[in-house]
Amino acid sequence: MNSQPASHATTEVGIASIGLQLPSLAFDVRDLASLRGEDPDKFTIGLGCREMALCSEDEGIVHLALGAARRALDRWDGELDDLGLLVVGTESAVDMSRPLSAWVADGLGLRGAVRSYEVKHACYGGTLALRQAVEWKLSGAAAGKAALVVAADVALYEPGDPGEPTQGAGAVAFVVDVPTIASIDVHSHAWSEPEFDFWRPVGQDFPSVDGPLSLDCYKRAAERCFRRWIEEAGDASLSKLEAVCFHVPFPKMVKKAVLALGESLGWSEEVSRAFYSEKVGPTMGWNLFTGNAYTAALWIAVARTLIGRTEGARLAAFSYGSGFGSELLTLTAGPAAIDGAWARDVETDVANRRLIDVAAYQGLRGEREVAAA
Ligand code: COA
Repeated sequence: MNSQPASHATTEVGIASIGLQLPSLAFDVRDLASLRGEDPDKFTIGLGCREMALCSEDEGIVHLALGAARRALDRWDGELDDLGLLVVGTESAVDMSRPLSAWVADGLGLRGAVRSYEVKHACYGGTLALRQAVEWKLSGAAAGKAALVVAADVALYEPGDPGEPTQGAGAVAFVVDVPTIASIDVHSHAWSEPEFDFWRPVGQDFPSVDGPLSLDCYKRAAERCFRRWIEEAGDASLSKLEAVCFHVPFPKMVKKAVLALGESLGWSEEVSRAFYSEKVGPTMGWNLFTGNAYTAALWIAVARTLIGRTEGARLAAFSYGSGFGSELLTLTAGPAAIDGAWARDVETDVANRRLIDVAAYQGLRGEREVAAA
């Protein structure tokens, strides 16, 4: 296995394996536009969306989280006994007490000397789970064991809600150990402010969103995190990054944040647009097929972006979760990034999934007496 010898704190930690899981259905946002009487260009051009991943009636958050975890473990050369930590970040919890990690552990047959728990902070929960795993390894507390981290969500809005075209689902799992795919810098830049921009009180089926406030918070968070990083790392630090991944509620929101960030840093609009199209836009290739997967959205972008990178390539990942908390992380590609073995997960799931029509979507959402999906 890849773990460090027991009892040794390690200095380099990161991603040793990646697995992803998408559900078996998808819906084109242009079909949603026709159902809701909207111009399809509003969803495709105005929001930058394309398809949303949807769970069938037989699927859900456990299926996604467990599927991603299995795939990450399958392509790792360790054993279940080599894991000392299982953390699941999600805002699609199925129970107020029992953590989603218990369902994942059950499915994996993982029990024993393992710390297993769930982390919640809106879309930031997956990043927190990953950070905790990295810091656990670096502290020496891991004693040579590896961590399994899962970010998984099913993002649904009330039918007819303005957020409906941004819906999605998906899961990403990482084995955190020797950083063969990417090391994660221990030093990161966090920023939080208590706000009510997006929330889902206990017992409420779908989220409440203050769209304009959530965009403002997201832009402010990005500006604060990047400024702190630049102050420390220097003006040239951004140009050394091959790619910059953002949490992706929907692609246009990311673009707006990048343009606002550029303006706050004194860039011309031309420079900001070039930065977006060269370093940010391409990272969202898979997000166009998943839609917003909340905790998983950023890490789907990171997983996509790591593929084919040469060892030493530097990336940044900006995480945002309403409420709000945010963090800017930096990663360095390892020797196994170039191979990008985990691309198969998304290629397989997208090739095998069924694009449903309007009637099936309505059936799935429980709207009117229509044929089941
Ligand atoms: N063709 C092209 N673009 C069009 C269009 C058309 N026919 N009609 C509208 N648009 C554009 C608008 O100009 C706007 O773009 P702009 O913001 O660049 O000006 C965009 O489409 C959205 O239109 P808007 O009227 O603002 O949409 P809305 O009021 O229905 O809000 C969301 C939709 C998704 C933006 C809003 O619900 C939201 O912000 N939701 C959630 C945010 C979120 O996910 N937060 C989570 C935490 S980060």
